[in-house]
Amino acid sequence: MPRSGSATLAPLKTLFETKRGKVVPLPPKLARLYGCLRMPLPRTHPHVFSNFVTTLDGVVSLNTKGHASGGDISGFSAQDRMVMGLLRAIADVVIIGAGTLGADSRHLWTAEAIFPKLADEYRRLSKALGKSEAPLNVIVSGRGEIDLRLPVFASGKVQTLIITTTAGAKHLLKQGVPDSVEVRAIRRSASVISARAILDEVYRVHPGKLILVEGGPRLLGDFYAERLIDEQFLTLAPQIAGRDDDDGRLSLVMGKAFAPGDARWGRLTDVRRGGSHLFLRYSFP
Ligand SMILES: NC(=O)c1ccc[n+]([C@@H]2O[C@H](COP(=O)([O-])OP(=O)(O)OC[C@H]3O[C@@H](n4cnc5c(N)ncnc54)[C@H](OP(=O)(O)O)[C@@H]3O)[C@@H](O)[C@H]2O)c1
Repeated sequence: MPRSGSATLAPLKTLFETKRGKVVPLPPKLARLYGCLRMPLPRTHPHVFSNFVTTLDGVVSLNTKGHASGGDISGFSAQDRMVMGLLRAIADVVIIGAGTLGADSRHLWTAEAIFPKLADEYRRLSKALGKSEAPLNVIVSGRGEIDLRLPVFASGKVQTLIITTTAGAKHLLKQGVPDSVEVRAIRRSASVISARAILDEVYRVHPGKLILVEGGPRLLGDFYAERLIDEQFLTLAPQIAGRDDDDGRLSLVMGKAFAPGDARWGRLTDVRRGGSHLFLRYSFP
């Protein structure tokens, strides 16, 4: 059980607030819980933002059976889930990797699914933004070894796009592909598809303005490597997870190393507090 009082849904306290971007018209209850939310609305290219939760010592996944999800990191914080739902409700597209799907295979990447209690508020918000449906759920997989009977594909509640390689698509098409699912193969990709190619394909299918990358760490690493993340939302959970040699615990970015030679430095733009959790926003120009 979390010991940080994180089960209660109290309003976040804004400590430092970005003044950039347009004010998002939050319904009263969400405005009370989050405060004022501003998002850039770029004219020329989509705004690509990511949202993660990490422990104080930088762990984003314990990577053990039954305890691999973000909930184990946040202490199942209601406030963190409220923010996750908020960002999904404003996003046109949510992108995840096959590893994140595997860790949470019954999930849908919608606002309602992460925080059902606020479903009406999220729906009201999406409607105010002119959206008629949930964000397009995009799953990235090189190998294409994905079970299309999972709810994200078979429930029909979301439109899903699988971005994969030619070999991956061949593998996937052996299964019946539900109507709500589209499989796109990126030709000339070996096992790893470039983040640029992922975004281009997403844009061809759904030309949205706000693209949310929920990870996991390998997918996020590819986006940072190509400098394609504009903004990072990061919840800092007040626990030290610790780490044994070779225990497989994951940090925010895996599979790519940047510092010292090619470090990615962000700028802190927004800070909110929910009990002992901090809700941070960094921009990566
Ligand atoms: N704390 C948080 O906020 C948070 C957020 C997200 C995820 N997580 C956790 O992170 C863990 C998963 O980590 P992960 O690094 O394995 O996640 P991941 O990036 O979601 O998954 C890695 C897999 O996704 C596919 N993939 C990712 N990038 C690709 C690319 N550029 N081209 C082709 N395929 C690509 C590959 O699938 P194939 O093997 O099918 O080719 C790869 O093996 C889970 O425990 C999850 O709960 C935590």
